[in-house]
Amino acid sequence: MATKVTEMNEVKSSGIPGLDTLLSGGFSQGRVILVLGEPGTGKTIFISQFLYGGTTQGNENSMFIGMNEPKSRFMIEMSGVGMDFDALERNGKFSYVDATEVRRIPEQAKVGRIHVGGRELGLVNLIDMMQEGMAKVTPKRIAVDSISDLVFRFPTIEERRPVILDIIESLQTTGATCLLTSEVLSTGEERTVQPEEYLAEGVILLRRLPRKGMRSVQVLKMRGQKVDTTPRPYTITDKGIEVYASEEIY
Ligand SMILES: Nc1ncnc2c1ncn2[C@@H]1O[C@H](COP(=O)(O)OP(=O)(O)OP(=O)(O)O)[C@@H](O)[C@H]1O
Ligand SMILES: [Mg+2]
Repeated sequence: MATKVTEMNEVKSSGIPGLDTLLSGGFSQGRVILVLGEPGTGKTIFISQFLYGGTTQGNENSMFIGMNEPKSRFMIEMSGVGMDFDALERNGKFSYVDATEVRRIPEQAKVGRIHVGGRELGLVNLIDMMQEGMAKVTPKRIAVDSISDLVFRFPTIEERRPVILDIIESLQTTGATCLLTSEVLSTGEERTVQPEEYLAEGVILLRRLPRKGMRSVQVLKMRGQKVDTTPRPYTITDKGIEVYASEEIY
């Protein structure tokens, strides 16, 4: 019996040189994937290359939801690693959603005369902003950088789970392939699994290794896809990230 190929199953290049080999082709359309790493591991560059590659090579519109930095800083940083998002935006193929204000919402906020929890409002705002960006460019690829600030406002894992689920589910309804970044709390061998890792459909971990200058990328999971889960080296240069899929760490 022939397998029915739905759009959901369509695998498309990740846009990151070398990574497709680890993913047996790329990312499945419509998946929500988490990119985990400590500060400075290259998370923002990683998810930006995913957008840039898809838009410039695959002709798919893209959207970046930035909670860490305003658009101007993003544009400058990414042009330093070979990506001209300005040009894509001018051509109506890319939209930057500045969500930095979501982080600034105080614990106690007001909507009209009604007092609401700022944490909940942050989430509602984010989902609203996503929908505005969707209407602008109808993206096939979305990047959210990062969910940590929003999620860590909720002190317990029990409270965090529904927040993460809300974000993931609202992204799933878009049909776009989505990459979300999250800060990793510890990267040692004893690393505790974070709730967002259980909830996302795929998880990729970026690490800086103790050995000078070495970085590793590891696909921890990718539901429904055969993947290489061995940590592999990657570099960051002025052309961005490159993964060495057949090389070993050590
Ligand atoms: N042109 C370049 N050549 C080499 N390395 C670079 C270049 N541009 C940036 N980097 C490296 O990329 C890293 C920053 O990448 P990026 O901003 O994507 O990290 P991040 O994980 O998003 O960090 P944060 O957690 O602070 O947001 C830094 O370690 C920096 O040294
Ligand atoms: Mg970053």
